[in-house]
Amino acid sequence: MKSLLVTGGAGFIGSNFVLHWIRHVSPHLINIDKLTYAGNLRNLISIHSTPGYRFIQGDICDRPLVRSILQEHRPNAIVHFAAESHVDRSILGPEEFVHTNIYGTLCLLEESRQYYNELDVESKKSFRFLHVSTDEVYGSLKPEDAAFSENTLYAPNSPYAASKAGSDHLVRAYHHTYGLPTLITNCSNNYGPYQFPEKLIPLMILNALKGEKLPVYGDGLNIRDWLYVEDHCEAIRVVLDKGRPGEKYNIGGVNEKTNLEVVQTVCALLNELRPNSSSYDSLISYVKDRPGHDRRYAIDNRKIQFELGWRPKETFETGLRKTVLWYLENTKWVEEVTSGAYKNWIAANYGRREVPCEA
Ligand code: NAD
Ligand code: DAU
Repeated sequence: MKSLLVTGGAGFIGSNFVLHWIRHVSPHLINIDKLTYAGNLRNLISIHSTPGYRFIQGDICDRPLVRSILQEHRPNAIVHFAAESHVDRSILGPEEFVHTNIYGTLCLLEESRQYYNELDVESKKSFRFLHVSTDEVYGSLKPEDAAFSENTLYAPNSPYAASKAGSDHLVRAYHHTYGLPTLITNCSNNYGPYQFPEKLIPLMILNALKGEKLPVYGDGLNIRDWLYVEDHCEAIRVVLDKGRPGEKYNIGGVNEKTNLEVVQTVCALLNELRPNSSSYDSLISYVKDRPGHDRRYAIDNRKIQFELGWRPKETFETGLRKTVLWYLENTKWVEEVTSGAYKNWIAANYGRREVPCEA
């Protein structure tokens, strides 16, 4: 029976993945998470007493802890989500990003390499280290450019993207130099249940429900490729199962949208599901742009599609409807994550954008 070590499994994608894995594959899963502001055990309440599942609060930079977890639980694979993940936070404070995303990944790789070297021949054949990364490592596209493929050169533009690029290079080097059976996935923007409301879609849903402004950066015409989180979890499962060690796989939703289109679609769904005296669109306000804001991301999915047989199931319309409904139905979760320190972040990030901009 496959047993997994997951890092960062209390965050947005990590917790969706833990729930997905336990529901569809096996209950044998160890989840190590530091529980930063982005980690939330409430996401995992439905499985916390499942036999075989174990949560450990800990830091991936704590090598003795990682070593003891590997020795005690002897996983067949590691799926590495733990990271600082928000671009705006990386602009205000890059250091933590370098520490967790680069040094933390190095710690995990070093301990994995030692653990792997001591495995017997059969266990070595099936062991995998899957590093979850982002399309932001490829930089920014012009409107006419082809979508990012696995051969696109790295050109990260934000401290976050640079730290993820650094971690990708380390993972690649551990395969090339030490023969660690690694896999890298570079995914586009995710959305869905349990996403912390510092990110575009949940921030807009929750601001709209409170009657607060919907702060669109710059002219609102930056483009992202949106993927429903459950589709991402499925893709990771497929890569873990069938991906070739040493390879990287791009994952995207084939859903390129401008930010303005995304916000307008959120407003339209709220107009239908939670009608108000005035349309939610009237709350849209253009604010000072993100420094170095990447203009466009797009993913060429062909490798994972043709080699491994994965493609996304949700359209943007079906996935966004599910997401808006989830935030409308889970008011307790929302109240908990938007109290306390969340307010300080909103003041720090949006206070400095106060001068409104014309689109
Ligand atoms: P998140 O910020 O919601 O969650 C990150 C989790 O990592 C949190 O639970 C946090 O407590 C934990 N963590 C942070 N530092 C840690 C440390 N030192 N030790 C142990 N745990 C630590 O992030 P997310 O949006 O779920 O993203 C997960 C991964 O997927 C990240 O590696 C991110 O770069 C990547 N990714 C995210 C997206 C996206 O759209 N959200 C897209 C592509 C790739
Ligand atoms: O592309 C994958 C990446 O997607 C992941 O690697 C990151 O972890 C994840 O945070 C996400 O990065 P983005 O910067 O694209 O996501 P964010 O939700 O912060 O912003 C999406 C777009 O919306 C971006 O162009 C900036 C814009 N935006 C964002 C916020 C929070 C606004 O216009 N207003 C906002 O208030």
